[in-house]
Amino acid sequence: KRKVILDCDPGIDDSLAIMLALCSPEIEVIAITIVAGNAPVRMGYQNAKKVLRHMNRLDIPVYIGEEKPLIKDFVNALDTHGSDGLGESFLPEVMDQPPLKNAIDFFRETFSEKGISVIALGPLTNLARLIEVDASAFAHIEKIVSMGGSYKAHGNCSPVAEYNYWEDPEAAQIVFNHMKMLHKQIHMVGLDVTRKIVLTPTLLEYIKRLDAKQGEFISKITRFYFDFHWNWEHIIGCVINDPLAVAYFLKPDLCQGFEAYTDIETQGIARGQSIVDAYDFYKEEKNAWILTSVEVKEFFYFFLERILHLKRE
Ligand code: BDR
Ligand code: CA
Repeated sequence: KRKVILDCDPGIDDSLAIMLALCSPEIEVIAITIVAGNAPVRMGYQNAKKVLRHMNRLDIPVYIGEEKPLIKDFVNALDTHGSDGLGESFLPEVMDQPPLKNAIDFFRETFSEKGISVIALGPLTNLARLIEVDASAFAHIEKIVSMGGSYKAHGNCSPVAEYNYWEDPEAAQIVFNHMKMLHKQIHMVGLDVTRKIVLTPTLLEYIKRLDAKQGEFISKITRFYFDFHWNWEHIIGCVINDPLAVAYFLKPDLCQGFEAYTDIETQGIARGQSIVDAYDFYKEEKNAWILTSVEVKEFFYFFLERILHLKRE
């Protein structure tokens, strides 16, 4: 089994991504690490625990990471994810204390072993911090898939910036630049592909009919997200970005992409934008694999198959 850490900011779609990962027998989720993003870290911690309780997997450790971006002030996204960060489902808290060990120390210990991958579903602050304190541990990470950025799609936080990179552009820049130094590629699952992943009321109805427990949980946490999408852009349904990063890790042929030198803008009006040098103007090492298209139907077959434990005919 491939070992994976989910570094996330749950978050409604992060929660669906965690569920998908836990229903996937080819990977072992060795821990969940929390970063400040959609929700403050303590709330993110609770939300991860609530998802783990729902999945009967409270055995998986959850470590709290950075409480704020490297430089800029923390701006949460509770307007999108609800006041509890989980779609105002207000599920009862899981009564426990977070471990004293923080996510960065956990990374340092864990990545002394090679072969562990990270699926990053929030701002890249925890990974950037690891580079700052222990670059050799970071160098041992097998593969990094990051939901964030965009290539041709416009942003969701500014005309050009996607939330995870907009929230902590300095961290994203450190990670992308460091990958270049290591001659490795980060897999960027940006808005070009994730915006295509819309959970519709019809799909939700299928889920409810096929598995009442999963259906009830997913309905509770996505109701607010459905309303948010309707109010903002008159979409019936909700864009679920993060599960695509997990699905792509498990099944790379769901998506097409290309390699390119990529950097993150940290200044001015384009702060947080991912600059993808698709035509190789800068003649720099290609430090990113940029996803450009996704087989949407295949994604949903895969997602439903996994979370509902279905067998395809
Ligand atoms: C990203 O921002 C967050 O709100 C989501 O959880 C996702 O990771 C999409 O821009
Ligand atoms: Ca997220």
